Amino acid sequence: MSTPVEYIQKHQETFKEELFDLLRIPSISADPNHKQDVRRAAEFVAGQLEKIGLNNVSIEETDGHPIVLGEHLEAGPDKPTVLIYGHYDVQPPDPLDEWKTPPFEPTVRDGKIYARGASDDKGQSYTHIKAIESFLKTGTELPVNVKFIIEGEEEIGSPSLVPFLAANKDRLACDMVLVSDTAMFAKDTPSITYGLRGLMYLEVEVVGPNRDLHSGVYGGGVQNPANALCEMIAKLKDEKGVIQIPGFYDKVRPLSEQEREAYAALPFDQEVYNKTLDINEEFGEDGYSTLERVSGRPSLDVNGIWGGYQGEGAKTVLPAKAFAKLSARLVPDQEPKEIYKLIESYLHDVKPPGVRVTVKEHHGGYPVLVDLDFYGLKAAAAAFQEIYGKEVLFAREGGSIPIVADFAKTLNATTILMGLGLNSDSIHSPNEHFHLKDFERGMKSSARFFELLGDYVE
Ligand code: BES
Ligand code: MN
Ligand code: MN
Repeated sequence: MSTPVEYIQKHQETFKEELFDLLRIPSISADPNHKQDVRRAAEFVAGQLEKIGLNNVSIEETDGHPIVLGEHLEAGPDKPTVLIYGHYDVQPPDPLDEWKTPPFEPTVRDGKIYARGASDDKGQSYTHIKAIESFLKTGTELPVNVKFIIEGEEEIGSPSLVPFLAANKDRLACDMVLVSDTAMFAKDTPSITYGLRGLMYLEVEVVGPNRDLHSGVYGGGVQNPANALCEMIAKLKDEKGVIQIPGFYDKVRPLSEQEREAYAALPFDQEVYNKTLDINEEFGEDGYSTLERVSGRPSLDVNGIWGGYQGEGAKTVLPAKAFAKLSARLVPDQEPKEIYKLIESYLHDVKPPGVRVTVKEHHGGYPVLVDLDFYGLKAAAAAFQEIYGKEVLFAREGGSIPIVADFAKTLNATTILMGLGLNSDSIHSPNEHFHLKDFERGMKSSARFFELLGDYVE
């Protein structure tokens, strides 16, 4: 009989084909037109959990998209229980014409699987399903208890999962949560993420006259909402990249000397960074390095801005309205609600005369920092190290997975962020991809993690 890792090695081609079936389903959670596709993806995942031999597999209905559960608790109550979290929903694929091959027709090129969701998060989360299969199908004793929770609303802020967790605390009780939905620090560099930023997303509407106006007849005589919005946005930060909203930094936990040393010790090359992005120079908050700026410090950005004429040629018009979507990334101990209130009142304060401003709150999420001494983290690092044959790095990341804070708050469980993706995977962008090698090493690392975990129990 083969070991779990041997089993994974042997069945790679099948596992890839299965993942392709999941990647072909356009489970775009944000788009109501794809509601049935999102459900099909849930059914596919549930079918997989059944097939590998999990118990109590269910598709839980919510007000939004379904949540898939399954468990294997045969190790017994004196063994740790790992809750495996992932999401089967994906971001919209647009702009479509920038994809070299269609987003929902998975294709392998240069050792990478190209498809929307290949890395975020279908490919990454699938590795754990296959890792558990490698125990159950080889008759190898699974030394820990596992529960799966795969949701379909991560990309829209997990609105249904938050109340679901609270309502199902006992059913989801666990000693730790395992998540592969982040990135490794660099290619072939196994990394454990120990910090995620939080999020506060909002929308601004600036309204002026009751209709679009002739810019010659009225221009100069009435406030232009597009100009007004630009003025307001220009006041969010100074030229040194420091956010100007009073109170915004009040609850930011300063980086300790030790943390700054750890940041400085990470293998980061600013020149390469700039080159891969085709930018001449980096920019960010004065006094901090790029790595600190993108994960240890908060940020505030315009995500979209529009208003007025956008068509071909010129149209002399003074728009009646202008809009922007803004988001802030937060670090401990900033509170999304408080930050929303601060931004909202600041936007009203800096509003020039002649327009009305409405601010609307979207989803938010708390930042997280994981305790590096947690025994589960050590087991994950050991497994990673063994499979990749390289020292594991520990780094904070700038992205957000809002539910992770709830795992701590509601389930009192530490989350192990075992990222298998790369920042260069183009997640949320055209041509998203996942390295086949990381898919394979991910499945093996996961299997080794479950084998090793028993030895690390506190
Ligand atoms: N998997 C990402 C988060 C991520 C990516 C963390 C890379 C660290 C490194 C996740 O699916 C995501 O995109 N989250 C959203 C938040 C959500 C509320 C829309 C994000 O960070 O924008
Ligand atoms: Mn994700
Ligand atoms: Mn995402």
